[in-house]
Amino acid sequence: MIRTKILKYLSPYIWPLLLMTVFIYCQASANLALPDFMAKIINEGIIDKNTETIFHYGLIMMLIAVGGGLATVGVNYLSSKIGTGFAKDLRNAIFTKIESFSLVEFNKFSTASLITRTTNDVQQIQMVLTMLFRLAFMAPIVGVLATLKAYRLAPSMTWIMGVAVITLISIIALIFKIVTPKFTRLQKLLDKLNLVTREILGGLRVIKAFNKEKHEEEKFNKTNKDLTQLNIFVGRLMMLLQPVMMLILNFMMIAIVWFGAHQIGLGNLQVGNMLAFLQYSMQAVSAFLMISIIFIAIPRASVSANRIAEVLETDTQIKDPLQPVKAPRKGGKVEFKNVTFAYPEATEPVLHNISFIALPGQTTAFIGSTGSGKSTILNLIPRFYDVTEGQVLVDDVDVRDMKQRDLRARIGYVSQKAMLFSGTIKENITYGNPNATEAKIFGAAATAQALEFIKELEQKFDSSVAQAGSNFSGGQKQRLAIARALAKNPELYLFDDSFSALDFKTDAALRRALKKEAKGKTILIVTQRVGTIMDADKIIVIDAGKIVGEGTHKELLSTCEIYREIATSQLPPEKLVEDLT
Ligand SMILES: Nc1ncnc2c1ncn2[C@@H]1O[C@H](COP(=O)(O)OP(=O)(O)OP(=O)(O)O)[C@@H](O)[C@H]1O
Ligand SMILES: [Mg+2]
Repeated sequence: MIRTKILKYLSPYIWPLLLMTVFIYCQASANLALPDFMAKIINEGIIDKNTETIFHYGLIMMLIAVGGGLATVGVNYLSSKIGTGFAKDLRNAIFTKIESFSLVEFNKFSTASLITRTTNDVQQIQMVLTMLFRLAFMAPIVGVLATLKAYRLAPSMTWIMGVAVITLISIIALIFKIVTPKFTRLQKLLDKLNLVTREILGGLRVIKAFNKEKHEEEKFNKTNKDLTQLNIFVGRLMMLLQPVMMLILNFMMIAIVWFGAHQIGLGNLQVGNMLAFLQYSMQAVSAFLMISIIFIAIPRASVSANRIAEVLETDTQIKDPLQPVKAPRKGGKVEFKNVTFAYPEATEPVLHNISFIALPGQTTAFIGSTGSGKSTILNLIPRFYDVTEGQVLVDDVDVRDMKQRDLRARIGYVSQKAMLFSGTIKENITYGNPNATEAKIFGAAATAQALEFIKELEQKFDSSVAQAGSNFSGGQKQRLAIARALAKNPELYLFDDSFSALDFKTDAALRRALKKEAKGKTILIVTQRVGTIMDADKIIVIDAGKIVGEGTHKELLSTCEIYREIATSQLPPEKLVEDLT
C-alpha cells in the first residue's frame, strides 16, 4: 500500500502543478497535431505539386513544433522545481520529526537507517515524482487520443497496435513481478551499508590497533557486494526493457509499412495517411509503454514512501503533558519515589524500587560497579526515558507533568561520554545559553578548570573545535562539557562520571570551585572513584539496580559492605583507618 500521506507535502505546489498541467496539454496537443499536417502536406502536395500548400502547412507545423518545444521546456523546468522543493520539504519534515524523538525511537530505527531515510529514500521519491509529473499526466491522454487518430486514419490496421501493446504490457508485467520485491531489500541493504560504514569509520583507531583492517574490509565488501549484485540484477532487467521495447516498436513499424503498402497498392490508403498512422501508432504505443514504466517506478517509490511515513507517523513516547505544571524553581531538588525502570524491549528492569531525595545546597553522589544502573538513574531526570513504575520529581513536580523545555532548562547535564560540536570553544560553552556574558563564559571555564589549557591556545576562546571535539584530549573535552553545563546557569547539575578523565588534582580543584559556584543548587555526581565523592553530603551505593547503602563516606564505611569493598580497593589503608575512627 502506498502511504499517500506523504503527498500532502505537495500541497504548497498546487499552482506550479496546475501550470505544469497546462504545459503538458500544450506539449501533448503539439505532438498530436503534427502528423495530421504531415499527412496533408504529403497527400495534397503530391497530388497538386503545390509548393504553396507545402509552405503553408510547413509553416504551421514549424510554429506548432516550436510551441510544443517551449511547452516541454516549461514542463521539465516545473517538474524539477516541484520535485526538488517537495524533497526539501520532506527532508525538513523528517528531520524535525527525528529531532522530537526520544532515545526510545532512536534505538528503534537506528541512526544509519534514519540517515538513509532522510537522504536516499527522499531522493527515490523525488526521482519518481519528477518522472511521474512528466509522464503520468500526459501518457494516458496521448495514448487514447493517438489511438483514436490512428484508428480514424486506417481502421483496418489498428490491430497491429493492439498486438504491440499487449506484447509490451505482458513483458513489463513480468519484469514488474520479478523486480518489485527487490526494492524493499535494496533499501534495507543500503541501511546496512550505511551502518557498516559508520561503524568502521567511527572505530578506525580500534580497528588499526587490533589489526582488524582485513576483517572489517571483508565485512564492508560483503555488504557492498550484496548491494551491488542486487543493483546489477535490477539494473539488468531494467536495461533489458529498452532493447525489447525498441524491437517491438520496430516490428510494429515494419508491419505497418508492410500492410500499409498493400493497402496503398489496393488504393484503400493514401501515402500521407499511412505515414501519419505510423507516427500516431508510435506515439500511442510509447504512451502505453510510459504508463507501464510508471507502474514499475511506483513500487520503488512506495517502498521509500513507506519507510519515510514510518518515521513521520512514529509518535514519540516522551511527550509534553496537555496541561503542563509551571513549577517554581526551588534549587533543583530531586526526588525518586519507588522508581522501577526497564529499558524498552528489555524484559528485566535495570532499576528496582529506587527512592532517594537530593536536596538543594548538597552534593548527592552515586557509586557502584559498572552496569549497576547509575547512568540510567541520571537519564530518568531529564526524561531521556520515562520510569516504568514510580515517580521522579524535580522541584517537587513530577517530571512528566512539566514541559520538557522547562524541565531541561533547569538541568546542567554532562554526559558520560563528553560530546562537543564543531565550531569554536566559545560556541561550545555558550551552547545552552547563547546570551552568556564574557564574564560568565570565563567563569564557567575557570570553574571547570578549562582555563589552564584554553589560555595555552593561540586563539583562546575562539580556537576551533573539530567535529565531535576530536582535536581535544579526553580530559579537555570533559572540562569543556562541564563548562558548557555551568554556563547555562542550571539549578540542578547532573555529572555522569564526568570527572573520570581528570587527574586527581584537577578533580579536587574542580569540585572545590563547583561547590562555590553551585551554592544552593542541587548537584548529582555519578562516579566510580571514592576520592571524588568522599566529601559529598550523601553517597548512594547502587548495586545491580538497587540501593544498597546511603549515607556519608564515614557512615557507609561502617554500614555498607559493598562501599567498604570499593573504598578498600581505592584508598590507602592509613586513610581508611583515619576515616573509620
Ligand atoms: N539503551 C539501553 N538499552 C537496554 N539496556 C541498557 C541500555 N543502556 C543501558 N542498559 C543496561 O542497563 C544497565 C545499567 O546501565 P547503566 O548505563 O545505567 O550502568 P552504569 O552504572 O552507568 O555503568 P557505568 O559505570 O559503566 O557507566 C546495564 O546492565 C546495561 O546493560
Ligand atoms: Mg554510566
